[in-house]
Amino acid sequence: MSADGKIADVKRSPARFGSAQDKQHLETQIAQADAVLFGAGTLRAYGTTLRITDPLLLQTRARQGKPAQPIHIVCSRSGQFDRQMPFFRQPVPRWLLTALMAANQWQQGQEFDQVLTYPEQAGAIDWAATLVQFKAEGIDRLAVTGGGELVAGLLAADLIDEIWFTICPLLLGGATAPTPVAGHGSLAAMAPRLELLSSEVKGQEVFLHYRRLRSASQAPESLAP
Ligand SMILES: NC(=O)c1ccc[n+]([C@@H]2O[C@H](COP(=O)([O-])OP(=O)(O)OC[C@H]3O[C@@H](n4cnc5c(N)ncnc54)[C@H](OP(=O)(O)O)[C@@H]3O)[C@@H](O)[C@H]2O)c1
Repeated sequence: MSADGKIADVKRSPARFGSAQDKQHLETQIAQADAVLFGAGTLRAYGTTLRITDPLLLQTRARQGKPAQPIHIVCSRSGQFDRQMPFFRQPVPRWLLTALMAANQWQQGQEFDQVLTYPEQAGAIDWAATLVQFKAEGIDRLAVTGGGELVAGLLAADLIDEIWFTICPLLLGGATAPTPVAGHGSLAAMAPRLELLSSEVKGQEVFLHYRRLRSASQAPESLAP
């Protein structure tokens, strides 16, 4: 994200402002995952997903008996996508996670290797049940690459364990430019709390690694009630 906390500019253009090191860092995280989950807004913005291309990362996955690429899962309520997007020609396993009503249009086609329908609770995706479904499909480690709406849903269900941020040296501004967490927001007193696990400066960027704190006993003193 930009130094002022935006993950894209006001036109919601694909965020290509990170350095080569940031891309390598992202690829390294993705290489540790069994699957990568992203929102339909992110896919529509980029038209592609990030594949592992680094030979060392590919070798490590092969040594671990993992397929070369994790499963790339796009989450969409509407199921509306342009079938001409380059994503549909990328050599990665592609899954769609969608509502029952939207699943039909993709179930017969070649675009997705698997179409999962998500369980709903009060008209919204039941994330806890969805992750149980992922686990049953062999997905133990899931990397979420954005955007803000998807992350907000998972955070609200308290299903995010760790977060990485890369702070990039630019200021994007704009009240409507997306940030890492969208949704309705939290009051400060109720906000999910994080513990900083590491921070590293590389060139002009800062790499931050946080863990989600879940109970008062996990909280550093300054955050404890
Ligand atoms: N800088 C970065 O690292 C980074 C990373 C990722 C994204 N981005 C930027 O973020 C922007 C996109 O973020 P965004 O918040 O607009 O979109 P998003 O979270 O990627 O996608 C939102 C869409 O995903 C589906 N979705 C999300 N949560 C859902 C839920 N709980 N249940 C069912 N469907 C759900 C819906 O799809 P339908 O509309 O199909 O129903 C929704 O409209 C783009 O500008 C992109 O460039 C930046």
